[in-house]
Amino acid sequence: MNNLEQTLSIIKPDAVERNLENEIKEMFKNKGFSILKQKKIQIEKSEAEKFYKVHETKPFYSDLCAYLSSGPIVVMVLEKDNAVIGNRELMGATNPIDAKEGTIRKKYGISIDKNSVHGSDSVENAKIEIDFFFKD
Ligand code: CMP
Repeated sequence: MNNLEQTLSIIKPDAVERNLENEIKEMFKNKGFSILKQKKIQIEKSEAEKFYKVHETKPFYSDLCAYLSSGPIVVMVLEKDNAVIGNRELMGATNPIDAKEGTIRKKYGISIDKNSVHGSDSVENAKIEIDFFFKD
């Protein structure tokens, strides 16, 4: 059964800095994702704090927000059947050390912080995250 979904993807500062934007987009396209919207931006730490609010009680929250706002990022709306889980599979485990062969984080991730990409973790959060960056 068809289950077309959209999810939010972010190419993080470590990957943009290493000019991996096109390689990562190719990995999405090769898996059948359409990139419906995209923009390269740099956000303030205060915006990163809003985006990652679910993590506000975690010990890594402040560093995480400083990192996401430390340089340009590419935010994208990806679409395909079951896009949320498909994106999470293609990204691989949060920590690149644990990521499987063929995943973006295995190929390009440097560390648990510099793990090259972010993806929405549920359909509900995908809607919230897409609105966060693309609501006009
Ligand atoms: P991301 O998918 O963007 O969502 C939250 C981010 O927090 C995660 O990727 C990691 O890059 C980062 N992070 C840093 N430390 C940790 C940790 N100990 N556990 C989980 N995520 C972490």
